[in-house]
Amino acid sequence: MSIPVWAQLAYLGAAVCFILALKGLSGPKTARNGNIIGAIAAVVACAIPFFYLDLDHVPLILVAVAIGTAGGVYGARTVQMTQMPQMVALFNGVGGGAAALVALLELHEIVSVSADPSADPGWFVLLATAFTILVGSVSFAGSIITFAKLQELMTSRPVVFPGLPVVFGLALIGSLALGGLLIGDTTMLVGVVLALLGLLIGVLLVLPVGGADVPIVISLLNAFTGLTVAAGGYVLSNTLLLVAGTLVGASGTFLTLLMAGAMGRSVANIMFGALKGGSTLGAGEASDRPVKSAGAQDIAILLGYAERVIIVPGYGLAVAQAQHTLRELVDVLSERGIEVDYAIHPVAGRMPGHMNVLLAEAQVPYEQLKEMDDINGDFKNADVVLVVGANDVVNPAAKTTPGAPIYGMPILNADEAKQVIFMKRSMRPGFAGIENELLFEPTTTLFFGDAKESLGKLLNAVKAL
Ligand code: TAP
Repeated sequence: MSIPVWAQLAYLGAAVCFILALKGLSGPKTARNGNIIGAIAAVVACAIPFFYLDLDHVPLILVAVAIGTAGGVYGARTVQMTQMPQMVALFNGVGGGAAALVALLELHEIVSVSADPSADPGWFVLLATAFTILVGSVSFAGSIITFAKLQELMTSRPVVFPGLPVVFGLALIGSLALGGLLIGDTTMLVGVVLALLGLLIGVLLVLPVGGADVPIVISLLNAFTGLTVAAGGYVLSNTLLLVAGTLVGASGTFLTLLMAGAMGRSVANIMFGALKGGSTLGAGEASDRPVKSAGAQDIAILLGYAERVIIVPGYGLAVAQAQHTLRELVDVLSERGIEVDYAIHPVAGRMPGHMNVLLAEAQVPYEQLKEMDDINGDFKNADVVLVVGANDVVNPAAKTTPGAPIYGMPILNADEAKQVIFMKRSMRPGFAGIENELLFEPTTTLFFGDAKESLGKLLNAVKAL
């Protein structure tokens, strides 16, 4: 049936709101408003069909909406910040799965009227239907495995078995053949087998990816879901779905490429590195080489008498949940007239924007958060760089050691500062599993301990100066 003009205009308004929402989400000051605009547009878009379609099963739909809303609100309110990647994976997975189910229902519709030649949907609609079924199923199964890995419901290490590339390749070829078959021989059986193959491909795609690479895969699957929804929009002749899906597909693709670029690795290496034995990161041994270490009093003196201090936050800050104590320390240093900034590496932590979100939670003013390119020239003027639970993002091996897993990754130039203080618990390496030569430099001092505890001691020591 044709969509009335008022509904088309409302869909167009919602599509514009989605674009504005994305624009808002691109900056910390406007992110909250962007999120609200996007949410309102989504509600409006879901409500529109109730007013112009003669819907069957309305009570059932409303029950589903109620269950979805309750689950979404509960999940969003209770999720810990560190669990955000798996939450996104779950949302993304159900999006892909829903698109695949809608495409299967459309296929059912097409099959049931196939005796009528005037109802021929055309090969392109059938192609889009096959694409939606396949990629939506891949996205659903892949996202569920990423969720299970991050939630530690299964091992987060790469899972490979002999013959995996062969099974994966055969499943891929089989799915392409079935997609082609669906256009020539449109039956439900072909559609269902295609969906099952998609589920298998999704599982096999994510199993070989190591836990710490999973956030990048989530972003890639997010892009897949976007493309699926866009194709679903074409099948259903719904422009809003087409626009929204394209936006998600494009932004997911950009985010994936940006993250991979910021890690100095290719997307193919992240996805298939374990098959070649190359992406099993994070398994490095603790070093027993001698280092210089000090306690809170000595570090407080270094900090308290500096003019310029740069903080490098990393994954350990999130683990220790020490962002509030760090902010208090920075406030006290600033009150002493010391110029303090946070240097934010694009892949510090384990998810996109991890440090920004963490520090925003502790009400750190946005102006103090400096992106890598903006602050890298400043390290040579810094008296002290305080590295709190970070490691790889300041590891000079990225510049000096060809063959290192992080070689080629742009890093923060902490090694150029007059003094570097590392706050960490042990001599264990970071995510990349390799030693950091900066720990052994004469200008470096280690302050061992859990970041929250150590920062508490440091705060008291600085206050006592
Ligand atoms: P890492 O290199 O992983 O180093 C984290 C450091 O924190 C370790 O040295 C660890 O040492 C310390 N630490 C852990 N828990 C701590 C605690 N409770 N208190 C104090 N220190 C603690 O982190 P990074 O520098 O942020 O680099 C991020 C890495 O993750 C990069 O290699 C990046 O490529 C990768 N990655 C990032 C993303 C995104 S999107 N951000 C996604 C996937 C992978 P101890 O164990 O000795 O304490």
